[in-house]
Amino acid sequence: MAASLPSAAVLGARAFAALEGLARFSDEPGKLTRLYLSPAHRQAAEWTKGAMEVAGLTAFIDAAGAGRREGPVPGGPSVMIGSHIDTVKDGGRFDGNLGVVAGILAAQALRDAGIVLPFALEVVAFGDEENVRFPTHLSTSGALAGDYDPAWLEARDADGVRLADALVAFGGDPGGIAGLARKPGSVKAYLEVHIEQGPVLEVENEAVGIVTAINAQRRARVRVTGEAGHAGTVPMALRKDALTAGAEMALALEGIAAGHEQAVGTVGVFQVEPGATNVVPGAVSFTVDIRSPRDETVAAMEAIVRERFAAIAARRGVGLDITTYAKASAVPMDPTLQEALSAGIARMGVNPTPRRLPSGAGHDAMAMAALCPAAMLFVRNEHGSHNPLEAMAIDDFMAAATVLAQWVADNAG
Ligand code: GLV
Ligand code: MN
Ligand code: MN
Repeated sequence: MAASLPSAAVLGARAFAALEGLARFSDEPGKLTRLYLSPAHRQAAEWTKGAMEVAGLTAFIDAAGAGRREGPVPGGPSVMIGSHIDTVKDGGRFDGNLGVVAGILAAQALRDAGIVLPFALEVVAFGDEENVRFPTHLSTSGALAGDYDPAWLEARDADGVRLADALVAFGGDPGGIAGLARKPGSVKAYLEVHIEQGPVLEVENEAVGIVTAINAQRRARVRVTGEAGHAGTVPMALRKDALTAGAEMALALEGIAAGHEQAVGTVGVFQVEPGATNVVPGAVSFTVDIRSPRDETVAAMEAIVRERFAAIAARRGVGLDITTYAKASAVPMDPTLQEALSAGIARMGVNPTPRRLPSGAGHDAMAMAALCPAAMLFVRNEHGSHNPLEAMAIDDFMAAATVLAQWVADNAG
């Protein structure tokens, strides 16, 4: 109990250095873009491995990138702390990276405090949480949780690169993925610190919150096929313009999401073919992302989307193909862990009654909850997320990282 951990100032300085360190690795100069299995991902994984070793972990890179501090029984059950080091295109410094840094700092603080743990402590830097490059869903945390779809290995990125080939180029081993699955009972708890990617904690002026559940989501790729033609010669009434059909579908999605309480719907990618000023667009491809706290709502929304898109396509005489490639149910976080983290926040004097809130964003904790009790702490963040403006006070982060380290220390018996 109440083991003495390094001061917040020491941890804060380490946190800053680590977050700055990770932010250096990008596939795009001047932006933070680090897609799964890219050269920058490999560099960030190497850097993370080094930081884990400094923290006293035995680190290695697999499809996920994990470090482990052995407990008294080698290979025995572990407590796992983690998040992801892949980013969206032109993302912020904190989404994902923060939870990995929190885990490394906790491991280092516990080691420095001489705390002997009766279990192994693992820190994991997952690599495919954003699922930007390939049409996968939480594939690296899914691999550990024993829920990896082998069809993902055949998925291709926008340049036609096969995931399996990218994995080999990265230094991974497609044949080894099945062996990454942990046995039920081998992980006692999974804990993830993450910036809140919405405005609630900031508006309520609270540094740290506890996640109750992660919202359900579905993702689809849509292709609309019209007829390319000369922009100067094809009369308006005779066009089969794939772009205007797709645009009408995107607007329909907006209306459908707005019509369902707490639901959201996004078209985040929209590609036009052939993409020339003087050509009526012959085809468009776009993505659909829908989310809600309720499984029934996303299912109902998907059905409405399919019906409305089909009606638009029929009216405009264009072809339509919708492929749903990710379906995730809402995932509740473990109630006992929520209570323990809440007590930890209160005991630290951060907030006597910490706020509990659902997560509209997806997280690796969704996949890990299928394997073991999982919980998440949210840290207050300004300017939203999935953009370079993410902003977080290091004191807020230190509160969350200290609660995390103290939870591990308290569970050392
Ligand atoms: C990941 O951040 C997601 O929620 O899409
Ligand atoms: Mn994230
Ligand atoms: Mn994200």
